[in-house]
Amino acid sequence: MAITSEITSLDFNLSEEHEAVQQAARDFARNELLPGVIERDNEQKFDANLLRKMGEMGFMGMMVSPEYGGGGMDTVSYVIAMEEISKVDASASVIMSVNNSLVCWGLEAFGSEEQKQKYLPRLAAGEIIGAFCLSEPEAGSDATSQHTTALDMGDHYLLNGTKNWITNGNTASVYLVMAQTDAGKRHRGINCLIVEKGVEGFSIGRKEDKMGIRASDTHSLMFSDVKVPKENRIGKDGFGFKFAMGTLNGGRIGIAAQALGIASGAYELALKYSMERTTFKKPIFDHQAIQFKLADMATRIEAARLLVYKAAREKDEGKDYVKSAAMAKLYASDVAMWATTEAVQIHGGYGYVKEYHVERLMRDAKITQIYEGTSEIQKLVIARELLK
Ligand code: CAA
Repeated sequence: MAITSEITSLDFNLSEEHEAVQQAARDFARNELLPGVIERDNEQKFDANLLRKMGEMGFMGMMVSPEYGGGGMDTVSYVIAMEEISKVDASASVIMSVNNSLVCWGLEAFGSEEQKQKYLPRLAAGEIIGAFCLSEPEAGSDATSQHTTALDMGDHYLLNGTKNWITNGNTASVYLVMAQTDAGKRHRGINCLIVEKGVEGFSIGRKEDKMGIRASDTHSLMFSDVKVPKENRIGKDGFGFKFAMGTLNGGRIGIAAQALGIASGAYELALKYSMERTTFKKPIFDHQAIQFKLADMATRIEAARLLVYKAAREKDEGKDYVKSAAMAKLYASDVAMWATTEAVQIHGGYGYVKEYHVERLMRDAKITQIYEGTSEIQKLVIARELLK
């Protein structure tokens, strides 16, 4: 009897190269990111020196081709690094994720040769940071309803409108802005324009006071008659929505890896605490109630990791990864929210104070169910793929 399956190889071992990436990211997270992570969360401020170091370590343009100054690594390496960084500092990892998956990858996959040469080397080195600007006050999940307009003025576009919830909103120097050029064409009338910080008419609005990922900056952005040269458009006229969707498919793998890291960071802290903390004359790990929690956490985290690696591997192999990416993000973000809540519970009262880190991870976890498409949007994407 013939056995048919999509699966052609099952290798759960990391290569030596992947192990080296994991070790480098783990060391960086422990040595550089862990000190000060609570203060950065309190102050809502990311350290520019740390950002520079992340660039020097190659974390800001991991998948960018070496010819444009990047690390030339695969998506599996990227998710491995994202997990390790997110275990310790999810603010650092969202800055990294937006720069790698949305800005660098989007530019390299769809940008012109001039655009790649102009922006990628500095973005990949972390000398400058990018932002991806799709969400609007009235267009979050419903991304086709763009109110920001880019009127075609011949040799340039005139950009007007407001963007909301923009990660790296003030830290960034380069912004990929989606805007409607021809409303009659709906999503096929949207363009993506590269806008640089400091151009006339572009202003940075209010900084959001967020529940989690507090050290990464999230802003609204305002565009008032901003002149954007035609050569700053990515792809052909009307390609902007396809650009955004295509880029977000890969971005979801990065956020899934972030969620995985938040979950596994909380699990590791809870496991360690369970062996140190004594109640009723024995370490709490010896209580079956705690063992059950840790066993469930370890199992679901492992399942999330397999989904994240599968999506990353499919992307690397040039397969269609839309469904896998959405599944990985849906599942890993739910695991992150649940596992961090369990980690706080295992810590008891200590879990509720900042010093023990798990309350921050619990706050950070929530956004992974919301950004780059809510859990409900992931289900919609998966269901549509099932019908294909
Ligand atoms: N991949 C590729 N193409 C896609 C796609 C996908 N996942 N989803 C839709 N498309 C294409 C469709 O094929 C269609 O193209 P054609 O007309 O050529 O066939 C086009 O896009 C429009 O699709 P729909 O008619 O299905 O559009 P819709 O309005 O019904 O729904 C949606 C689309 C899937 C709900 C989409 O709006 C969506 O993904 N929304 C969520 C947006 C999102 O993730 N926002 C996050 C903001 S960025 C962020 O969070 C970054 C950050 O700061 C951390």
